[in-house]
Amino acid sequence: MIPYKKTDANFSLEGKTALITGGAAGIGYATAEFFAKKGVNLVLADLNSGVDAAAKKLGPKNIGVPGNVCDAAYRKNVIEAGLKAFGKIDILVNSAGIVALEKAECISEDFWNKTISVNLTAGFMMAQAFGAYLIQNKLPGSIVNIASQAGVIALDKHVAYCASKGGIISMTQVLALEWGKYGIRVNAISPTVVLTELGHKAWDGPVGEAFKKEIPAERFAEPDEIAGVIAFLCSDNAAMITGHNLLIDGGYTIK
Ligand SMILES: NC(=O)c1ccc[n+]([C@@H]2O[C@H](COP(=O)([O-])OP(=O)(O)OC[C@H]3O[C@@H](n4cnc5c(N)ncnc54)[C@H](O)[C@@H]3O)[C@@H](O)[C@H]2O)c1
Repeated sequence: MIPYKKTDANFSLEGKTALITGGAAGIGYATAEFFAKKGVNLVLADLNSGVDAAAKKLGPKNIGVPGNVCDAAYRKNVIEAGLKAFGKIDILVNSAGIVALEKAECISEDFWNKTISVNLTAGFMMAQAFGAYLIQNKLPGSIVNIASQAGVIALDKHVAYCASKGGIISMTQVLALEWGKYGIRVNAISPTVVLTELGHKAWDGPVGEAFKKEIPAERFAEPDEIAGVIAFLCSDNAAMITGHNLLIDGGYTIK
């Protein structure tokens, strides 16, 4: 069961530990920054060799473990490192992701597989490893998977990316269904374009400018706006929210 907790005016996360994949940059790092301000211990997982330094910048006890989330041994190692440092892990944010654009009729099998492998398979396997740890230890927990507006609408040249993000939303629903009884909540968020390296790569230029005009909010999102929503979903104030896909799209997908 996911127990009732009286609504907390401070949206406290104090004393919790969060594992954030893709934590060295973009949405993952913005979330780490936000969590650090809320008193959360951080375990950052990222390909970037500077990830430990990035974690320490947000607090000397935080850790960053460099490696590839597609590698099963690395995923196990990150969880073990987090447990060694903090004794428990309460939150998983799956933010590691990639984008590469190509017309559907032209993409290679390698291109397809790489996108699905990083964005969907590694996210699921990380959630599976974290969920197994929580279930075995009878601990509650919260998982937030970063999907995308691309998971609910079609975007030109995004076939592999859209498929990976649609998969994340489905995977999130099944995990929420199966793990509610263990006190584990699993949600997804689906941002529009966020001004990170990945966002710039996909949307800089005239196509992005035209796209922006179609968003009712008339702008793209900043990384910290995504972090704040993730923090809410991980707080006890979101205790009755599980299996949800929360769009952070300035209204783009209502049309
Ligand atoms: N930026 C956007 O416009 C946008 C919009 C919707 C959803 N998203 C999603 O948000 C998530 C974060 O994107 P971002 O914009 O912060 O990207 P980013 O490129 O700024 O940061 C991604 C981080 O993930 C890390 N990473 C990538 N592959 C990895 C791997 N195999 N193992 C470990 N780490 C890896 C990178 O090193 C990087 O630090 C992604 O899943 C992305 O699909 C982004």
